[in-house]
Amino acid sequence: MTQPYVIDQMISAKSIAARVEALADEIETTFAGTEKLLVVGLLRGSFVFIADLVRELDLPVEVDFIEASSYGDGMETSREVRILKDLRGTVEGRDVLIVEDIVDTGHTLARVSEFVAARKPARLKTIALLDKPARREVDFKADMIGFEIPDAFVVGYGIDYAQRNRNLPYIGCVRFTS
Ligand code: IMP
Repeated sequence: MTQPYVIDQMISAKSIAARVEALADEIETTFAGTEKLLVVGLLRGSFVFIADLVRELDLPVEVDFIEASSYGDGMETSREVRILKDLRGTVEGRDVLIVEDIVDTGHTLARVSEFVAARKPARLKTIALLDKPARREVDFKADMIGFEIPDAFVVGYGIDYAQRNRNLPYIGCVRFTS
């Protein structure tokens, strides 16, 4: 059960689209000359971001997904991150980009990139649409970031609160009304 809440828009769909285009340019520069870039989305929050991002990429890409445990249905991260779904293909010698929706405490992306790095990719970079540096608990920074945001609980553009609001086209901030 969740308390009643409203959602205040924080980042418009238009701003997101413009930023995704710029991020795609940055990725193309970073991975210029790649034979094929393995774009790895973290389920489930990155599914909208990754869908928009790969369509802006003028590079040969392959898409795969990893699922890691984190929030469950609540608003607090579990800190102990487990890999629930692994990649299908091999990583060794490949160019890999890990795509995350939001870096909060940093545990999830730190753990997942460690997990992927152990398989010896040729080049490995991480990208997050949102970053909440005020909440960081581990020394981790994504290589590319869409927007830095304050310490607020956000939803939309793939990001949920108790499995709701992933379908909002913008990023909104959850505000409880009682
Ligand atoms: P971290 O391990 O604390 O960095 O948490 C990362 C994961 O927590 C993200 O992939 C999200 O699924 C979830 N998360 C972090 N902040 C928020 C938020 O504001 N709204 C919804 N989910 C969040």
